Amino acid sequence: MSPTVISTIAELRTELDDHRRDGRSIGFVPTMGALHAGHASLMTRARAADEIVLASIFVNPLQFAATEDLADYPRDLNSDSELAGECGVDLLFVPTVAEMYPAGTLLTEVRLPRLATKLEGLTRPTHFTGVATVVAKLLNIVGPCRAYFGEKDFQQLAIIRRMVDDLSVPVEVVGCTIVREDDGLAMSSRNVYLTPPEREAASVLRLALDAGEAIVKGGASNPEAVIAAMSAVINGEPLAQLDYATVIDPLTFEIPANLNHDVRLLVAARVGRPRLIDNCGISFEKVL
Ligand code: PAJ
Repeated sequence: MSPTVISTIAELRTELDDHRRDGRSIGFVPTMGALHAGHASLMTRARAADEIVLASIFVNPLQFAATEDLADYPRDLNSDSELAGECGVDLLFVPTVAEMYPAGTLLTEVRLPRLATKLEGLTRPTHFTGVATVVAKLLNIVGPCRAYFGEKDFQQLAIIRRMVDDLSVPVEVVGCTIVREDDGLAMSSRNVYLTPPEREAASVLRLALDAGEAIVKGGASNPEAVIAAMSAVINGEPLAQLDYATVIDPLTFEIPANLNHDVRLLVAARVGRPRLIDNCGISFEKVL
């Protein structure tokens, strides 16, 4: 069944208040639409845990730089609504920009500079302020019990978790594993920008992570060796331009002195038009 589409904050609040009054738990999946199997995994996870499942579709201008693809970002409400319905989503919140930002701009920002200026933040300096601000606003509008985010955007997930902890937002943040295409490419709304040869080349991100993982699991203690191996794989693909390949402590986001505890490998590269990101976690118990 297709979800009920709601476009105003007032209407959504009235609808959710009714469910809350009846004691129903609310699960929330924020998205920017162009929904794919990665988003579907979050919605399905919410369906299994919560009585009412709400997804939002809002292409948030605050998180796009002037040079980025805000105007061209893929949008297709009909197919999004169909996929959301197949996943058992009850309500789809699709606000306009004027509904979310009636004064044209916000005077309030949620900033986490310590986390937001690294990695993605180096090429996208205003991105995570836009993300944290809109997610804070959406969580205040919805008031969910649980909110679901993908590990695909690992830095985003860490920033949202920290924002929720720091501001005591009453929600459980649920991180969900990365859904991939058959060749390992992480699903992304921006994969539609890839030409066929670029699409083939894009699997190099996963190959780089595999190479890094093999080195860590082989017992390497020096992060530089892992970084060099991942970089070499991406640099070996002529259609890919490496942005970063790194290994971090998933709590501090710093490169660890040695690889004797849980780490996260992260890569970013431009392949044709889109800039693609991917990551994988390695837990130390699995290395031993
Ligand atoms: P969007 O890119 O649409 O992603 C919505 C959610 O789907 C995010 O939590 C993202 O991590 C998750 N996701 C995307 N691809 C995935 C994949 N291959 N596997 C698993 N999960 C995946 O991320 C955003 O939108 C926005 O920044 C948002 C949080 C909605 C704020 O505007």
